[in-house]
Amino acid sequence: MHDMLAKLYNIPDDWSFLQEQEAKGITIRKPMGTEKHVIIEWVKENFQEAWASEVDRSLCHTPMTCFLAVQDRAIIGFSCFDSVALGVFGPTGVLPQCRGHGTGKALLMAALLDMKLKGYGYVIIGGVGPAEFYRKAVAAEDIPDSAPGIWRTWVESRNAEKIPGLSERIRRTES
Ligand SMILES: CC(C)(COP(=O)(O)OP(=O)(O)OC[C@H]1O[C@@H](n2cnc3c(N)ncnc32)[C@H](O)[C@@H]1OP(=O)(O)O)[C@@H](O)C(=O)NCCC(=O)NCCS
Repeated sequence: MHDMLAKLYNIPDDWSFLQEQEAKGITIRKPMGTEKHVIIEWVKENFQEAWASEVDRSLCHTPMTCFLAVQDRAIIGFSCFDSVALGVFGPTGVLPQCRGHGTGKALLMAALLDMKLKGYGYVIIGGVGPAEFYRKAVAAEDIPDSAPGIWRTWVESRNAEKIPGLSERIRRTES
């Protein structure tokens, strides 16, 4: 899982994907505070816990650095930036049964145009994933020697088992 780099200044300021998605009954928008717990649970259920942490972080920013794809008042996809680390896009995901309708690309473009408006010149796409999707959508390029990159010392609680005496302490803290 390596990182990629894309040039935000080359991305046209074209938000027409919002209308294109709307025509399919899909709304791409920023979340509301009311939805925070629902979004975190949804990401945990449909993707993974680490992504739930990252989405949580993006929902704590003001303004939020997260976009949702909503259909029939249900979440079908999401994207985030400045959540893993500053200047980094991701995580993102669309429900398997809703893929192939331009929603993943719309969520990517919304986040990247928002980053551009925020003042970033480049975006790092963290821990890819479907590299071809990013190459095609925004001419992203691979960053050499970027795996495991910022995740090199990633702490996961289950890793505590490797350190004698630590796992019992963590188990007590987490219970
Ligand atoms: C990657 C993902 C978000 C794409 O969502 P999607 O809604 O199916 O994507 P779109 O329909 O917007 O696709 C846009 C274009 O990218 C292409 N594309 C989509 N997924 C692709 C993939 N995995 N590899 C290569 N091309 C892909 C589509 O064919 C489409 O091409 P077109 O513009 O020529 O029609 C979705 O597959 C997903 O949730 N994957 C699992 C989670 C994940 O890997 N997230 C990324 C972590 S870095």
